[in-house]
Parts: sequence; C-alpha cells; structure tokens
Amino acid sequence: ARPTRILGIDTSCDDTGVGVVELAPDGGIRVLANRVWSQTIHASYGGVMPELASREHVERIDAVTGDALAEAGLTVEDVDVVAATSGPGLVGALLVGLMYGKGLAQALGVPFYAAHHLEGHIFAAASEAELRPPYLALVVSGGHTHLFDVPREGEYVLVGATRDDAAGEAFDKIARLAGLGYPGGPAISEAAQRGDPEAVPFKEPLKGQKGFDFSFSGLKTAALLAHRAGARPEDLAAGFERAAVSFLLKTTLRAAQAHGRDTVVVSGGVAANRALREAFAASPVRAVFPGQGLNTDNGAMIALAGAAALRAGRPPSPLSEGAVAYAP
Ligand code: KG4
Ligand code: ZN
Repeated sequence: ARPTRILGIDTSCDDTGVGVVELAPDGGIRVLANRVWSQTIHASYGGVMPELASREHVERIDAVTGDALAEAGLTVEDVDVVAATSGPGLVGALLVGLMYGKGLAQALGVPFYAAHHLEGHIFAAASEAELRPPYLALVVSGGHTHLFDVPREGEYVLVGATRDDAAGEAFDKIARLAGLGYPGGPAISEAAQRGDPEAVPFKEPLKGQKGFDFSFSGLKTAALLAHRAGARPEDLAAGFERAAVSFLLKTTLRAAQAHGRDTVVVSGGVAANRALREAFAASPVRAVFPGQGLNTDNGAMIALAGAAALRAGRPPSPLSEGAVAYAP
C-alpha cells in the first residue's frame, strides 16, 4: 500500500499556511511540505486587522497551496485527505481556509477533516517526535497560553490557562511599547541579548497560587512603568523575557509533577523562543518542541492533526462543519 497524503490548511489568523504530510502504512508520519505566507500588511497597525487578514487569505490561498504541492513533488490529484482549521481563530479568516479545504475535498472526492488549531500546535511537536500520550502540553502563542494534560490520544484536559493576555501577546505589546517592532517575540529575544535582566525588576506573577494559571498583565504594567521611568528597551526586553520564561517553566513543572507526567510538549509561536527552549532543556522533564518552521502558525501542523485523526480511526467531518471563534 502506498502512503496517504494529507493536505493541511490553516488560515486562523494572519498567516496563510498550507502543508503536506505523508502517513505511511506502518503509522509513521513525515512532513513533505510546509509553506506559509505571512501577511505584512498588519505591521503598520501594530496588530492584526481581521478584515484585511481575510482578504489577504482569499488572494493567497490558491498560490500557497500550489507552492506546497510543488514542494512535496505532488499534484493536486495525489491528495488523499484534506484537513483545515475550523477554530479557534478569527472567523472571517478561518472561513477562507475552511471553505477552500472543503471545496477541494469535494472536488477531489476525498475525506475532509476539520481540525482544532491548538491540537495542530500540539501535533506540530508530538507527531514528528513520534511521541504518544501521556504527556503535558503547553501551548504558548499570540492567542493562547493553555496547559493541557493529554492522558490518551485525542483527549485534552485543560489544567491551566491565562487569566488575561496570552504569552505572545505580552511579547508583542511590550515590544511595541519599547519601540522594538512587530511581531514582538523575535524582537524582544534579539534585544534581550544586549540587555541587563537585573536592571528592571519584574515580580513573579500569581506567586503562591495552588493552580496552574498564567497571567501577564502584571509584567506588562511593570514594563510600562519602567518605560515611563526611562528604562532602556534592551533592559526591558531582558528583564521581561527572563521573568516570562521562568514563570512559564515553574508553572509547567509544578503541573507536570501534580499530574505525574515526565514529558512536556511546548508549542505555539513563543516555543520558538531560545531562552524558553534552553530553560526547558535544562529542566528535569523531557521537553519536546516543534521542528523548524512548525512553531508559529502553519498548515503542516493541521495536516499532522489530520494524520493523527486518520490513524486513530476518527470519522471524517461533515461538510456542514462551520468556523468557530472560540472552540472548546
Ligand atoms: O502560534 P502563532 O504564530 O500564532 C497564534 O496562534 O497566535 O504565535 C505568534 C506569537 C506572536 O505573539 C509572536 O510574537 C510570538 O508568537 N513569537 C515569539 C517568538 N517568535 C514568535 N515569542 C517569543 N520569542 C520568539 N522567538
Ligand atoms: Zn497558533
């Protein structure tokens, strides 16, 4: 039997992502292609403009799909399964990829899977590492800071989440405040290397909590006050990055211990952060990160989620499945 080729599409926010993965008869999964068109139109607004994002997806989706197929060395007729993100995300943006994916599946006469964006982020790390549950999963992106316990394939128990901003959102907002540019994650990370992490004091958020929640508003306020008091941007970046990384690590390690897990998947855009990777790598848990190009939003992670659904024998999604802003 030849491998099954799965095309995955993600248009949940401001990246038009299409990827192709291959599911071998023995259950092995391999990424064949991963193409992302990152919209730059939002940079001048300092944040994503939903209506502009939708329009850009409409203009780009066909070309990005063609590029992904070419990278995989396939033609559209070789696609056996189509998967697309149905949520959570910006509804107008989601609809573009979802409708395109459904249309493609129907035209080809192949099964269609609606995928959960966060499950995609988790599979971006888990699939390639051939990791099977149980494990803990920390999803840290521009829209999410969620900690899940994954006892079995396809089962996600939320054990903690942010009470205010997402981790990536805090990186973006503090970068904007300090005039370091957008998106803020890479800008903070770069500036932090030139800064003194001791120069600006940042208190540990939610200190003493029994649960596993996150909060970034206190760090944001501390950054704002220090900025007004004349702190250097690189010092702000260094202090904030160190505080955010240590908070994410400590909370996750406590949760891992409480749930008896020794493996942690760390994924989402912020998982690209070098300081975060180093901190987890030096910790007592086995930390699994997504491979190159799979941290931030992309289509391959959705194809990986589709491959996992297929491998687990889940039935395809009905074509009536709609886009949802807040998926449970
Ligand atoms: O997963 P993603 O592409 O989109 C969402 O689903 O939200 O994550 C984007 C977020 C942005 O907030 C960006 O600033 C952050 O990931 N990010 C980083 C780094 N690279 C991207 N944050 C910290 N360090 C980085 N190197
Ligand atoms: Zn994401």
